[in-house]
Amino acid sequence: MRYVVTGAAGFIGSHLAEGLIDAGHEVVGADCFTDYYDPRLKQESASRLDVVRIDLAEEPLDDLLAGADGVFHLAGQPGVRSFGDVFPDYVRRNLVASQRVFEAAAARGCRVVFSSSSSIYGDAERLPTPETTEPRPLSPYGITKLGCEHLARAYGTSFGLDVVVLRYFTVYGPRQRPDMAFARLVGALAEGRTFELYGDGSASRGFTYVGDVVTATIAAMERGRGGATMNVGGGAEATMLEAIALLESISGRRLDLRVGAPAAGDVRRTAADTSLIGAELGWHPAVSLEEGLRAQWEWASSRVAAR
Ligand SMILES: NC(=O)c1ccc[n+]([C@@H]2O[C@H](COP(=O)([O-])OP(=O)(O)OC[C@H]3O[C@@H](n4cnc5c(N)ncnc54)[C@H](O)[C@@H]3O)[C@@H](O)[C@H]2O)c1
Repeated sequence: MRYVVTGAAGFIGSHLAEGLIDAGHEVVGADCFTDYYDPRLKQESASRLDVVRIDLAEEPLDDLLAGADGVFHLAGQPGVRSFGDVFPDYVRRNLVASQRVFEAAAARGCRVVFSSSSSIYGDAERLPTPETTEPRPLSPYGITKLGCEHLARAYGTSFGLDVVVLRYFTVYGPRQRPDMAFARLVGALAEGRTFELYGDGSASRGFTYVGDVVTATIAAMERGRGGATMNVGGGAEATMLEAIALLESISGRRLDLRVGAPAAGDVRRTAADTSLIGAELGWHPAVSLEEGLRAQWEWASSRVAAR
């Protein structure tokens, strides 16, 4: 198959594109290498890939989608710290870019798998959270991702877009975005720096290993029911303090920890109910938090050692 992966130079997109290539597919990557974090990391992540430099929010998409069997739409502006002056970036890179991708894919009868986020739930009423829970996002980021989900559905209803929406729960592993907690944590341990914890460390997440996310995302393209919305969450829920203890034991180092204020837009707890994707696609997370953190630690510490 010939697949387009948007956001292919990003953390998850680069793993997905490599997974598709390894499975024998042809992949066209698309990314505009935003400066949300150092674009050199994106170049390194995309070193095995063909990536077209294109801004999905404004450039024509015809050539990119020509001959594609499906689009994995991962490009976007992530990060819950999305209040204030950065908001227009979230509107442009999430809402405007996704609307253009959905429009172009619908016009070509091209299937889309859209990467949404557990952030659409906010502080969910039910934990573990099933997909039927009322979305109440707490961050402008979550609000724009929920808007993208609604756009996907509107293009499905009015223009027959064949789309599957996946809600990822806190993804981690090698190449994780540098703004994310585990990346900052392994970086601090590897370089002997102080780590600033947002809040008291009791907030917990349903952490999901990036390799498991790739498997779920490819399964959704190949076998997902058009119009479905499914959670993709790791089996292991942990608090930040538990994750820190695990990483200290994996690395054999002590973390210099400073407790800071909780970040606006951060929720207390996330936990995925994955029974739907388990029943429909036979997908279950396979990588334990310890295995996944070990892989991320080895990647990060070897990069520091190679400097
Ligand atoms: N990492 C997570 O834990 C997580 C959780 C839930 C959902 N998601 C979603 O998964 C997707 C990938 O997340 P990630 O963590 O890999 O982020 P990332 O920032 O590493 O990757 C996103 C990529 O999209 C590109 N991009 C942004 N706007 C673009 C535009 N207009 N045109 C072309 N390229 C553009 C960026 O340059 C970047 O390389 C995002 O849509 C995010 O919302 C991620």
